[in-house]
Amino acid sequence: MTSAPVQEGVIDLLVASMTWEQKLAQLQIAFRPRLEDAADLVRSGIGAVFWPRSAASTNELQRIAREETPHGIPLLVGLDVVHGQRTTFPVPLAQAASFDPATAETDARVSAHEAASGGVNWTFSPMIDVSRDPRWGRVVEGFGEDAYVNAVFGASKVRGYQGESLRDRDSILACAKHFVAYGQAEGGRDYNTVDVSMQRLRNVYLEPFKATVDAGVATVMAAFNTVSGRPAHANHLLLTSILKGEFGFNGVVVGDADGVVNLLDHGIAEDLPDALLQSFAAGLDVEMGGNVLSDDGRLRLSPGDVPLERVDDAVRRVLNLKLALGLFDDPYREADHEVTTPSPASRRATLMAAEKGLVLLKNESVLPLGPAPKRVLLVGPYAESTDHLGAWIQSFAEPTGSLADAIGEECPEWSLTVREGTGFFGGQSGHIADAVADAADFDAVVVAVGEPSALTGEASSRSDLRLPGAQEELIRAVAATGAAVAIVMFNGRPLVTSGWIGAVPAILEAWHSGLEGPRAVARALSGAVNPGGRLPMTFPRSSSQVPIYYDHENTGRPATVSGSLDGAAVDVALMGPGNTDDHYTSKYKDLDLGPQFPFGHGLSYTSFEYGDLSLTHSRITMEDLRAGQSIEVTIDVTNTGPCKGDEVTMLFIRDLVASLAQPVRRLRGFTRSSLQPGETITLSFELGWNDLGFWDNEGLYIVEPGAFEIHVGGGLDDTRVFNLHLRP
Ligand code: NOJ
Repeated sequence: MTSAPVQEGVIDLLVASMTWEQKLAQLQIAFRPRLEDAADLVRSGIGAVFWPRSAASTNELQRIAREETPHGIPLLVGLDVVHGQRTTFPVPLAQAASFDPATAETDARVSAHEAASGGVNWTFSPMIDVSRDPRWGRVVEGFGEDAYVNAVFGASKVRGYQGESLRDRDSILACAKHFVAYGQAEGGRDYNTVDVSMQRLRNVYLEPFKATVDAGVATVMAAFNTVSGRPAHANHLLLTSILKGEFGFNGVVVGDADGVVNLLDHGIAEDLPDALLQSFAAGLDVEMGGNVLSDDGRLRLSPGDVPLERVDDAVRRVLNLKLALGLFDDPYREADHEVTTPSPASRRATLMAAEKGLVLLKNESVLPLGPAPKRVLLVGPYAESTDHLGAWIQSFAEPTGSLADAIGEECPEWSLTVREGTGFFGGQSGHIADAVADAADFDAVVVAVGEPSALTGEASSRSDLRLPGAQEELIRAVAATGAAVAIVMFNGRPLVTSGWIGAVPAILEAWHSGLEGPRAVARALSGAVNPGGRLPMTFPRSSSQVPIYYDHENTGRPATVSGSLDGAAVDVALMGPGNTDDHYTSKYKDLDLGPQFPFGHGLSYTSFEYGDLSLTHSRITMEDLRAGQSIEVTIDVTNTGPCKGDEVTMLFIRDLVASLAQPVRRLRGFTRSSLQPGETITLSFELGWNDLGFWDNEGLYIVEPGAFEIHVGGGLDDTRVFNLHLRP
């Protein structure tokens, strides 16, 4: 982002001429007001409103702001454009599964273009909360469990929304949220307590925020949660010392919806004025909800409650953004040109995004089904459901069709029979036996299951990660007929599959993939598309196994399958061959070791082979590394299978001995490549000072000499390893 040169002089003059009331009015965004109320609020000088749902209404509010208020200050107009305005893209978690950051940038570009045409100039996106607990419904809104993936995708989203310059007509302000560590809510229960060490805060949760600040993000939203006892909204260390001070963030910190009011329930503030005072003093710039005004319209804060310099600083930050957006020159949009339906190009872009996010979890010679004529039975609640847009969609977004519709269009040679079998929540479960009785007579059975999007997103935590209702029963019933079965899962979080996975040969993870999600799935089933996505979050074996994530510490007693089970005296009946007889190790006795599917897992209709790994250095000194020298890592990858396909190559590091226990693997690079059969390409990655160190509990970034392993390959279990020595 290159913002317009800030005309300090203009802003200073404006601030100097504003009253205390006028200043405070700029520091709030009214939460979803009715249009008449919004007009009154704008007349009273409010600085920002939620989008009033059309260019024409927005223009009217901007006109009131420009013409009927003393300083004529235009409005910020905000909306959660999270994965689409009219053209819905896959949910962010599905975008992360593409391991192609261009997917997220394209979504943000299209979203910005469509939203800006209606007068929106501020989106509350991207969400970059590292999420390691799939019980938390909001995992769907972010980019999964890895800090580096969140950092890369978050920065891409920011670039997409904000474009080359904020002055461009189709650029809107981005908002990195939620600052910070919201993803570590205890028990995965939304809004719950977060208690986090400084090293984890910095190594895991802050890294994506630093990356979006470096990418020029204009705004950051405070999180609802406490961080080690202090709510983020009133946390001076986080908002001022780290974000504004250390990261050099010079944009606006906005509160979350009623997050300031919530300080009362947190037991941090005595009353609303106290809550406001604590928040502004901590570094919040804009309150979301309009609580700066009391019900009778009077201000809750008197001059001097918050230091004037702090209020002036907040006002300056808000005005700078309005200036950078060019709103003082022209805040209006041509109502006739408001984009209200997806263009063919946006549809193509979201289809490509949906295709890229598909993850083939399991495939024992069932998929693809091929385009040739065949009899296909489609069963399950997602056969005819149109609930594909996912959490955080706009009520006015273009609706989508069902999987049955898409198969009809994309696979015209198939003879398709559609039966629901069971509803999402067990409705019609009595019909399961009838629905699948003749399944074996079909050439293939596609079972379309999942969790409805209403079970995902904000305030939608789940304690049970299995498919809801009687869907597992449906899968087992189909499998028992001996039919060739492919399961397609539509969901917004990792689900537990252990109750049925052994009975089925193929599973395609389709997520909630937006406007063209069903079409993408139909194309993958037929083989027109080869799935190449990877899991951005670990899939657990059981709901009780979470949180489970790949970049965990080793512990002092790691459990490994010892291989000594044959003939060993196993004293726990539940222990299977996937567990270990080594008693005093870190594990559950009643579960196989490790997850069902690890982070990075994903199969293909073709196969890939890696060549040798080479590094420009096997030894490097601390001094050279600090001076900016990097290590180049190269590897060849070949498509050795029968068809074109995409391979995601990942680079992990492991610091073998350090003063703080380090993760067993840490992702520091990834790339997705498309390869024709027989094609080989050489990939290269760079590692430098910022990759080999870590943050300690004093808040310092340190790099320690010693041995590192560099792992490169197609996933956690499929890597070539090279040893690197960092010399003192
Ligand atoms: C609450 C959510 O936590 C936040 O992500 C969203 O931006 C605001 N509501 C505004 O809708």
